[in-house]
Amino acid sequence: MPIIPIFQSKQSGAGSEAELDRSRLPRHVAIIMDGNGRWAKKRGLPRTAGHAAGAETFRTIATYAKDIGLDYLTVYAFSTENWKRPVEEVSAIMGLLKKYLLEAIGKMEKDRVKMKFLGDLSPLDDELRELCRRTEEISTHYEGCQVNICLNYGGRDEIVRAVRAFAADCAAGKADPAALTAEGFSEYLYTGGIPDPDLVIRPSGELRLSNFLPWQSAYAEFYFTDVLWPDFAPAELDKALIAYQSRSRRFGGV
Ligand code: FPP
Repeated sequence: MPIIPIFQSKQSGAGSEAELDRSRLPRHVAIIMDGNGRWAKKRGLPRTAGHAAGAETFRTIATYAKDIGLDYLTVYAFSTENWKRPVEEVSAIMGLLKKYLLEAIGKMEKDRVKMKFLGDLSPLDDELRELCRRTEEISTHYEGCQVNICLNYGGRDEIVRAVRAFAADCAAGKADPAALTAEGFSEYLYTGGIPDPDLVIRPSGELRLSNFLPWQSAYAEFYFTDVLWPDFAPAELDKALIAYQSRSRRFGGV
C-alpha cells in the first residue's frame, strides 16, 4: 500500500527490501484500529460489518504480536467520544467485544495472552464489565504478551482522573506535590506499571492521535498507512516494525 507522502522520508525502511529483525522489536506497540466504516462502505456493507471484520483483524494481530514476541500491544477499541455514534453501532461494537471476550476466556490457557482494559468501565453494561473483570483476573496467572484494550478511553480524561487521584492523595497526606516527578505521575494513569509505547500505528490514512495515549506517546515513533484496519494483515505490522527499526530514537539527546 502507498505510504502517505508527507511521512514518506520518515517512514523509510517500510516497503524496501529490509527484513524484520526479531531481536530488535519494540517492547510496546499501540494501534488505533481505524477505517472499519470506510472498509464496509467500499463494499456496500453496513458499518457494523466493518467492525466485525475489524474485530477479526484484532484477533489475528494480537496472536501475531504474541507469536513474534512483543511484550505489549495496546489497541484503541472505543473512545470516550465514540458514545456519540448511532446507538445501533455502539451496541454492535459492545456485542463484538462480548463475543471476543467470551471466546478469549475459553482459549486463554492455550493462547496465554494476558489482557487488561484501560479506560472507565463504569458506564458499560454489567455483562461486559463482568467479562472484562474475569478476563483480567484469569490474565494474572499468565506471563507473556500483554494486550491492553482501551475501552471508553480518552487521553485527556485519563490525565484529569490521574490529577484528581493525585490531589486526593496530597489532601490525605499520602503524596507531596513538590516531590512529584513525571515517572511518579505516570503511576496514576490507567497505564501505571506499563512501559510507554515505542511505536504508535494508525491505519486508514488519518494523521491524528485522536486522544490516544497522549502522555504515554511523548517519545513514541509514529507510523501511518492508508491500509484500512480490517485489511491490516500481519505483513502490514511487519512493515511498521521494519520502519521502526530504521528510525533513530534520541529521546531529546543527540
Ligand atoms: C474506528 O473505525 C473503529 C472503532 C471506533 C471501533 C473499533 C472496534 C473494533 C475493531 C471491534 C471490537 C474490538 C475488539 C477488541 C474485539 P471507524 O468506524 O471510525 O472507521 P471510519 O473512520 O472508516 O468510519
